[in-house]
Amino acid sequence: MTDGKKVLFSGMQATGNLTLGNYLGALKNWVTLCDEYECFYSVVDMHSITVRQDPAELRSRARRLMMLYIAAGIDPEKNCIYYQSHVSAHAELAWILNCLTYMGELNRMTQFKDKAAKHADNINAGLFTYPVLMAADILLYQAAVVPVGVDQMQHLELTRNIAERFNNIYGDVFTVPEAYIGKVGAKIMSLQDPSKKMSKSDENPNGSIYLMDDPDTIMRKFKRAVTDSVGEIAYRDEQPGIKNLIDIYSACTGCTPQETVRAFEGKGYGEFKPAVGEAVISVLRPLQEEFARLNKEKDYIDSVIRDNAEKARRVSGKTLRKVMRKIGYPDRIF
Ligand code: TYM
Repeated sequence: MTDGKKVLFSGMQATGNLTLGNYLGALKNWVTLCDEYECFYSVVDMHSITVRQDPAELRSRARRLMMLYIAAGIDPEKNCIYYQSHVSAHAELAWILNCLTYMGELNRMTQFKDKAAKHADNINAGLFTYPVLMAADILLYQAAVVPVGVDQMQHLELTRNIAERFNNIYGDVFTVPEAYIGKVGAKIMSLQDPSKKMSKSDENPNGSIYLMDDPDTIMRKFKRAVTDSVGEIAYRDEQPGIKNLIDIYSACTGCTPQETVRAFEGKGYGEFKPAVGEAVISVLRPLQEEFARLNKEKDYIDSVIRDNAEKARRVSGKTLRKVMRKIGYPDRIF
């Protein structure tokens, strides 16, 4: 705890183009939680290399993601926004935690299974131990709260188990974190296949809304969204396409799904789909404008990157030193 506030940690991968799912499931909540917590938001570029990346592309995406955090409304003077690879404590703690994590636990991770199937030619050890690095991220900052989408819950559960295991063996060192899942938007589905989550790596670009999509593209994608032949705007599992659109509309407007259903009672999909498009456009427009402005502020962004990395190093270094003592690494008498 710093400044009497509990600590919050979260991160996003600098891989692919960020989607509306990333925004509604995570980034939007990050912004609303800023005042209540002492926040650390990382661009997790070390996680990104578990899948082969083009180096120049990764560097540029990481920087854009950093700017997107700020454009979304996270004030880098009050919150710590930094690149994971700039803070070596992440790799150091990940190694230690690797030695406290069982193969069986990692074998159960559904995201590993999915990614291994998708990248069958590159099932590397990093992909397997990815959740341990994620645990290190969170535990280094003594985070009490971790806002994520539903797809990260299993990793969060593992993080809690690792933290408790460490604390049981070596004494209380780590805060055991809780996940924070938003009321709506925690699992945004593909617009083309509502049984699949909206994903940066989807091959069909019509299934995802990208945060930098222009209004015409957004509208076109919503008009083409896969729905059903029921023809009723109702919030139920049997109509997954419409349910997803209700979630998106509700998350963008601040309504509950029930309020959204009431607002569109008796109306057809032909009216509802463009209304969802409009709601998304209104949320993304200010974000895109702010991003364009920041893109011209090179020196400012550089200073944010420098200053925040220093803060992240200081805070994480404290936990790392404690851990090193506990596990019996020799004292550094130099
Ligand atoms: P990543 O980069 O895949 O996704 C970033 C955040 O977006 C959420 N998300 C979604 N939410 C709702 N609907 C969707 N369709 C959707 N798609 C993605 C994710 O749940 C996530 O919150 N392993 C993490 C990054 C990470 C991390 C951490 C997160 C690394 N270390 C420590 C929290 C704490 C990941 O790959 O997220």
